[in-house]
Amino acid sequence: MPERGAVSWTALVGGFVKKGHFEQALEWFLEMQLSGVEPDYVTIIAVLSSCANLGTLGLGLWVHRLVLSKKIKDNVQINNSLIDVYARCGCIEFSRQVFEKMKIRTVVSWNSIIVGFAMNGNAEEAIEFFKLMQIEGFKPDMVSFTGALAACSHAGLVDEGLMLFDVIMSVHRISPRIEHYGCVVDLYSRAGRLEEALNVIENMPMKPNEVVLGSLLAACRTYRNVNLAERLMNHLLELGPSSDSNYVLLSNIYAAVGSWDGANIVRKKIKDFGVQKKPGISSIEIDCDVHEFVAGDRSHVDTEHIYAMLECMQLELRTSGYIPESNVGDLCEYD
Ligand SMILES: *[C@@H]1O[C@H](CO)[C@@H](O)[C@H](O)[C@H]1NC(C)=O
Repeated sequence: MPERGAVSWTALVGGFVKKGHFEQALEWFLEMQLSGVEPDYVTIIAVLSSCANLGTLGLGLWVHRLVLSKKIKDNVQINNSLIDVYARCGCIEFSRQVFEKMKIRTVVSWNSIIVGFAMNGNAEEAIEFFKLMQIEGFKPDMVSFTGALAACSHAGLVDEGLMLFDVIMSVHRISPRIEHYGCVVDLYSRAGRLEEALNVIENMPMKPNEVVLGSLLAACRTYRNVNLAERLMNHLLELGPSSDSNYVLLSNIYAAVGSWDGANIVRKKIKDFGVQKKPGISSIEIDCDVHEFVAGDRSHVDTEHIYAMLECMQLELRTSGYIPESNVGDLCEYD
């Protein structure tokens, strides 16, 4: 294009965001900055969405300053995105500040702060804000319920969570979604009420997905309940190769209770299915640069330093008496 305005740049940045290529979106945003074209609020929302997904606090703060300097006209959506960025970067107090200073709030603003509190472990506040939003006349939607339910399960508030789940149907007349069933399974699982968790899984109107099965399986491990884990196996098989991480979990459960045969059977199933372990990518931002890494990664330029530091930390842990969970039976994460 001979001429590129804010709209063209924003379309490009936004396109990368839509496809989930957040790093590239940020790279093109930097190009845009270099080209001297001023971003508008649509660009800013796209950039903030990338920041939230990558956990890039530095850039988030920079954008926030840009908004405060009135170079970008602030609006509700930008503020909602800021709440989300700070929450995902673990700075929930910043989220709270943005939320409290907002003149106009929408359901999305409330959802962002509730989910933010829930995912940062501030369960009490999540529940408090869930109640507040209703006092202020906002109708909670699917997302609000998910946030509040997740908060209940993190805080171990089983009865409160179950009541909330009831309210979704009886008061709000919405049919709960799989996320909500997942939260209830998680509620029971964390409380050690594994049979009740299984009961929910077997009676929910939709097929359980790997997240739902995963929370009960994890609890089977905590409570060393191989029997129940085996009964979950059928549900796992129905999911097919997509539930690779749960196979690993199941195999670890067997190993944890010393049933090597069971562990070997599961491992063989993993092979037969051709299950590929998808590496979970983590990312960290240092000086506005995003570094991505997976388990056992040695591709980083500073890999020597990183591993030296890891060894250092392990040594410290051991000398201060921390004994690693004995995961000799775990599938090697570094394969
Ligand atoms: C957005 O948040 C800022 C504080 O960060 C506030 O001054 C502004 O009024 C908010 N805008 C709206 C539309 O709520």
